[in-house]
Amino acid sequence: IEAALGEGPLSGRRIVVTSGPTHEPIDPVRYIANRSSGAQGAALAHALAALGAHVVFVTGPAAVPPPEGVEVRRVETAREMLAAVEAALPADAAVFTAAVADWRVEGAAQEKIKKVPGGDLPQLTFRENPDILAHVAALGPQRPRLVVGFAAETQDVVANATAKRDRKGCDWIVANDVSPGTGIMGGPENAVTLVTEDGAESWPRMPKAEVAERLAARIAETLA
Ligand code: CTP
Ligand code: CA
Repeated sequence: IEAALGEGPLSGRRIVVTSGPTHEPIDPVRYIANRSSGAQGAALAHALAALGAHVVFVTGPAAVPPPEGVEVRRVETAREMLAAVEAALPADAAVFTAAVADWRVEGAAQEKIKKVPGGDLPQLTFRENPDILAHVAALGPQRPRLVVGFAAETQDVVANATAKRDRKGCDWIVANDVSPGTGIMGGPENAVTLVTEDGAESWPRMPKAEVAERLAARIAETLA
């Protein structure tokens, strides 16, 4: 792999990949977040780099470490992720695998909120976070030629993903069913449906690394 870095069908291409969860602070020791190991994002970044791409890997605090051979930009919150993605543009493609927290806590406390046993409970007010994918998909000249979103759904996967693709203005949505019981969330395998302008294409269940390789090959084909 080392020797192959920079060579291949994606040689000379710059690709931004977001990965992992974001953490939105409540106070200095508490946060809200989505469940996300960052495994699929790391696998995809690795697969793209293996095809020769220069990958800018913008990652929240993920359990899985970033792969070798990519440029890593670590962030914590959705707003930091947006800023890091913007700073990484222009790019040929951008792939959004991150499980971004949809909301942040308004006015996060600067000091640890102290528990008052039996007393008043803290009240949290939420604000909507920027939608990084939708923002990038709506860019003018700075818009990457290929913008790919992921969609974790628990029901009506194809219908929800198709609607999401339209709403976000991205080129592809990679949808997966993360219902409890599928074992996909946090597990080694994924079963995805690729939604493009041509319709929905369901791939068989396979290891996340293989999903990544197939997706990377498809991206290479499209950018060629
Ligand atoms: N996404 C993003 N910024 C956000 C929220 C989501 O970039 N603030 C991206 C994700 O990385 C993913 C895609 O948008 O590629 C879809 O995320 P998802 O959470 O499924 O979509 P939402 O529009 O947030 O819808 P919901 O959570 O209600 O299903
Ligand atoms: Ca969401």
